[in-house]
Parts: sequence; structure tokens; C-alpha cells
Amino acid sequence: MANEKVKIFDTTLRDGEQTAGAGMTTQEKLELGKQLERLGVDIIEAGFAASSQGDFEAVSTLARELRRPIIASLARANPNDVDRAWDAIKDASKPRIHVFLSSSDIQIMHQLRRNREEVMDMAVTMVSRARGYCEDVEFSPMDATRTEPEYLYTMLEAVIKAGATTINIPDTVGYSIPSEFALLIKGVRENVPNISKAIISVHCHNDLGLGVANSLAAVQAGARQVEGCINGLGERAGNASLEEIIMAIDTRKDLLKVYTDINTSQLYRTSRMVSDISGFPIQPNKAVVGQNAFRHASGIHQDGVLKERQTYEIMDPLAIGWPSGNGVVLGKLSGRAGLRSRLEELGYKLEKNELDQAFESFKSLADKKREISDRDLEALMSEHFRADVEQYSYALDQVQVSCGDHEIPTATVRLIGPDNEVYVDASTGTGPVDAVYKAINRIIGVSNTLTEFTVNSITEGIDALGEVTIRIQNNDRIYVGRASDTDIIVASAKAYMNALNRLITLGEAGKQSLTGIPNP
Ligand code: KIV
Ligand code: ZN
Repeated sequence: MANEKVKIFDTTLRDGEQTAGAGMTTQEKLELGKQLERLGVDIIEAGFAASSQGDFEAVSTLARELRRPIIASLARANPNDVDRAWDAIKDASKPRIHVFLSSSDIQIMHQLRRNREEVMDMAVTMVSRARGYCEDVEFSPMDATRTEPEYLYTMLEAVIKAGATTINIPDTVGYSIPSEFALLIKGVRENVPNISKAIISVHCHNDLGLGVANSLAAVQAGARQVEGCINGLGERAGNASLEEIIMAIDTRKDLLKVYTDINTSQLYRTSRMVSDISGFPIQPNKAVVGQNAFRHASGIHQDGVLKERQTYEIMDPLAIGWPSGNGVVLGKLSGRAGLRSRLEELGYKLEKNELDQAFESFKSLADKKREISDRDLEALMSEHFRADVEQYSYALDQVQVSCGDHEIPTATVRLIGPDNEVYVDASTGTGPVDAVYKAINRIIGVSNTLTEFTVNSITEGIDALGEVTIRIQNNDRIYVGRASDTDIIVASAKAYMNALNRLITLGEAGKQSLTGIPNP
């Protein structure tokens, strides 16, 4: 029997964005959406249109701009959400409305404060309303793994009858274990009489660290769509890591007898981009994309890999898009062609004007740093990306500090405002970074608390680029800011501007978190 396809449903832009402190601007979502399209995912859940004006705009922008994948918007089971979802995705070449509603007694009773009959009715009515707009409708009984199976089967039968074309079984609280989850999928296949009219999907959270294992068990039991996030982003402990599921399916096709349409060589680049935008570093020992995933430390392993790669490597790093590390080191004397070819190896395809800009930044970095490594190039491209996508309210034009053990740390900053006006101000502080942040605050005046400040050296050596990640809190929301520079005070100032601009952009869009929205 021919292998069957498993559809990959990416929800990095919706469930992933629900990670505390991972808010993304529309422009960032669009850039990430384009990368997900290059990766070849089948469905992009672009957001939750009814949750805020900002999310609505993000979903509709992706629906207009990305033509290959299905673009989905999440919607609660109420008329306004379904209508807003449709409004946001109606220009997509392949639109999908994804309706969800709690099905477990604990959520029905305590959160929705309804009874099972009412909930059944809401599910059916809203699926058929969605179907009135769109041929592609997904339904998720939220908390399915803690739902009484008989009620779940009846609900699934009813929503399929109402027009649902995909039924998604979420392990919303990451409670299930693989053998049990596989049995649930088997139960759905055997007990929902019209199940052949819909695709079975799964959506596993990672509270017990079983998101990927549960997803694969479900695939073995017949699920043909898997939902997840790149780098395992998502609520609480996150969603199942898509890159791990994809590579497990690819590596163990002998056993699983399924395939995906993913271009795996884009996985490394996609993972780096998600880390960059979300401000969540990838743990070094993370499967598939962590820094150590293909590093062999012990002498025996090194010996084996040198003789035959497959002795200790089950995947080819090149197939995931890992840079080959071919020994080319760029520096002051390197030309534009050398830079372009190295960037291409790293997965960056640049237009001529983008290459011109990148070359300028490269030259200025090469004046300060003798050897430019792949990690330096990635940091440099991240800076470009941030400059491109940041819908600047304010831009940092100049920063100057004086500090030392007998000086009062003092900073002067010059910012360019939204209408190109120039602002200059100065402040003292407990240290140089504090002085810079206070001087910026005197100009921008948006109240916030700094909750995280980390500096990492991108490579070794005294001339290394410093990468600063900060998080600031305003009301209940957290905003990330990231930047790199050979001068860590400059990097700190740029990271703060990045976070403030995000706060201003997302704050204005009136973004709320999913949990902050009253249920229907
Ligand atoms: O985890 C969950 O149940 C969800 C649904 C909205 C699908 O994210
Ligand atoms: Zn979820």
C-alpha cells in the first residue's frame, strides 16, 4: 500500500504567539509566514481574528499575501467570532475557519457554565455557520483527552454532519500518554460513523513533555494532520515541536509509512527565525535544531562519524539545512560574491538591494572584527530583518555614554520620531545601561518595567558581537527586544528600542491574550 500523506498545520503564529512574551507584529508574522510557505507547511494558522484588531489585520494580511498554503483563523463557537474569522480570511486562495469549543465536563461546567446539550448545539450551529462561508472548516473539541469518549464521538459525528471537514483532537492540557492517545484516535475512527468524510487531526501540548510522542502515536493510529509550533513554542510548556515531528516522519518512514510535503532543508532557517522573532533561544541539546544536535564530543563517536557519518548520525544535518561549515572564513578582504554565497549557504536568498545593504553592514563589522563567522552573519541578518520589519515609531540615531569607577554614569541619546522629528535627551543612572534607558524614557515616556536583561557573546574572542535580549512589562503584557553590536551598550540601547517599538505597535493594536477573552 502506498504511503499516505500527513498534513502539517503550523500554529506558531497563533498558539505559538500565546507564549508569554512572544507577541509578534503583523510585519513579523508576514515574514515568518513567507518562511513557513518556503518550508512547505500545508496550513498556516495565522491568528485568532476576533481576539483583537491587531490579530485581525495579521490574519487578513497573510490571507492576501500567501497564496500556496491554506490560511486558517481560529474562532470560538459564537457568531461574531465565525464572522470575523471569515472576514479576515476571505481573500485567501485557500481559506479555512477553525472553530473550537470545550467538550470536557470540567471545562463545560466550570468555564462555559453550560450543559452538554447546549454545548453540542453551539458546536453544530457554529460549524454550519462557518460552512456557509467556507468549504474548509475545522472543528476542535477543546480538552478532548479529558472528555467522556461517548460524548466526544457524538459531538464529532454531529459536527461532521454539519460540515466540518477536519476534526482536530486537542490534548489541550498535555495530559495524555502515547498508548492512551493512540487508543483515543482508534476509538474516534471506530465509533464515529461518518468519520471517513473528515480528516483526523491532532494538536498536542507538552505539559508532560509528550507532545511529539503523542502526535506520532496518533499518526500511527490514523491521524493525517498534525498541528504544532516551530521550536515547540506555545501556551505553558508549549506545543509539539513541528521540526521534530517532521524529521521523525522523514527518518522513520520505514516504520510509520507516511510522508509530509515539507522541504526539510528550510527547517534550520525557520527555527532560527522563530527564535529571533520570539526572543526565545533554542536550548543547545534541542533535537534537530539545537546547537549540539550534530556535535560529537566523545572520541569514540568522533572516530565513528569520521569513518562513516551514519555510525552515530540518524539524520543528515544538510537535509535540515544546517550550514555545511565548509571552512570558508569571511573577513575584511572578502567581496560581495563571497558574502552572497555564504549567506545562500545559510539559507538567506537576497535581492540585489538587500545584498547591497547586507554588504555595507558586513564591511563595517569586518572593520571591527577580524574574522566573520556564520553566527556573526546570522546576527547581522537578524539586525537587517529587525530593521525591515520593525514598524518604527522611534529609531535610535545615536547613543553616547560616559562611565567609570569615578564617574556618574551619564548617557545622551538621539532618537528619530515617527514623523522624522529629532529628539535629544540625557540622563544619569546607576550604570551605563540604566542611564541610556532613562534617557530614552525621558523622550518616549511609555511606562514599563524591565523584567529580563541578558547579554550573550555570539562567538568567542574579545571582538565578539554581543547579543542583548530584554523583556519589558507594561500592564500584564511582556514584550521582547533583541539586538546585537560589537558595543554592548549600543546593543542594549537597540534592544530597548526594539522592545519599546513592539510595545507601542502591539499595544495600539489592542492585543489581548486568548485567556483574557470571555468565553461565549
Ligand atoms: O490547545 C487547544 O485546545 C487549542 C485549540 C484552540 C485547538 O489550541
Ligand atoms: Zn493549543
